[in-house]
Amino acid sequence: MISKRLALGAVLAAFAVAPAAAQTFPQRPITMVVPFAAGGPTDIVARLVAERMSATLGQQVVVENVAGAAGTTGAARVARAEADGHTILMGPMSTMSFSPALYPNLAFNVLTDFEPVGIAASAPIMLVASKNLPGKTLAEFSAHLKANAATINNGNAGVGSTSHLACTLLNNRIGVSPTLVPYRGTGPALQDLVAGNVGYMCDQVTSLMGQVQAGAVTPLAVLAPTRSPVLPNVPTATEAGMQGVDMVVWNAVFAPKGTPAPVIAALNTALRKAIDDPTARERFLQLGAEAPTEAQRSPEALRAIHAADVQKWGDVIRGANIRVQ
Ligand code: MLT
Repeated sequence: MISKRLALGAVLAAFAVAPAAAQTFPQRPITMVVPFAAGGPTDIVARLVAERMSATLGQQVVVENVAGAAGTTGAARVARAEADGHTILMGPMSTMSFSPALYPNLAFNVLTDFEPVGIAASAPIMLVASKNLPGKTLAEFSAHLKANAATINNGNAGVGSTSHLACTLLNNRIGVSPTLVPYRGTGPALQDLVAGNVGYMCDQVTSLMGQVQAGAVTPLAVLAPTRSPVLPNVPTATEAGMQGVDMVVWNAVFAPKGTPAPVIAALNTALRKAIDDPTARERFLQLGAEAPTEAQRSPEALRAIHAADVQKWGDVIRGANIRVQ
C-alpha cells in the first residue's frame, strides 16, 4: 500500500513538474551551438531557423559557432550543458552519425546523451572543382585526378565531416589517395577552393550554391539519387556513370539528455514554425535544401532516422576502413 502511494506520488510529481517546465521556458536567451565555422551548411541552416524560432519562443536564439574536431567539440559542449533547453545543438548528420565509428574515445554518446528535437532541413551532396582544374564532366575530372592525384588537394571540413566522408567514398571509387586538407568547416574550405588552394570538394549543396551561381567553382555531379531542382543541368553521379557515392545530409536540433518533454515540445513547435515560414522556405529552396516531410518532423522521427544513420554510416566507414590518421 505504502509503495503504491509512493508510486502515485511520483507520478503526480512528474505531472506537476512537466507543465511548470513548459510554462517557464524559455527564461532567458537560448544558445544554439553550431559545431562548425560560419558560412558552412550547418551555420546557414541554424541562422535561418534561429531567427524565426526566436519570434515564436519570445527569447533570442543566439547562434554560437564552436568549431573543432568535425563538430565533436561543439556537440560535447551541448551534451554537458544543463538540460533545460537553453543550450541546444544544430547537429549535422556527420557529427551525430559518423563520429562514433571514427572517434573511439568520443566524449559523448550520440544516441544516449541527447534528446532529439527535430530535423530542420536536408540537402544533397555535390562535387565541385576549382576553376583551375580542367574538365567539365565527372568522367573528365576523374581521368584528370587519376593522372595528377599527387598534385591535387582535396579540401574538407575536418576528419569526420560530411565533406570528408563524401569525397573519401568518391576518391576510393576513382582509386586515388590525394592529400586531404582539413578546415574548421565548409565555410573556410570553400574560400580556399574558390582561391584555388584546393582542387575539389564534396559538400552540401546549401553552402555551394552561391559560388556555383557566381561561376566561382565548377559543379561536376550531384552525389545523390536525384538531381537538385536548383541545378537541373548537373547530372547525378549515377547518371554520370559512378555508383555508391550518394549521400543526403540532414541538419537537426538536439538538446541535452534529460531536457523535460514539454521543453522539447516547445522547441519542436518553434522549429516547425520556423521551417514553415514562407521566407525561410523560399530561402531553403533557393539553396537547394529540403524541409522535412510531416512524417519526419517529430522528435521521435528524428530519433529513428538518427539511429538508422549511425548504423548505416558506421557500416560504410568500417567497410571502407576509413580511420582518423
Ligand atoms: C559545416 O561546415 O557545416 C560542415 O561541413 C557540416 C557537415 O559536416 O555536414
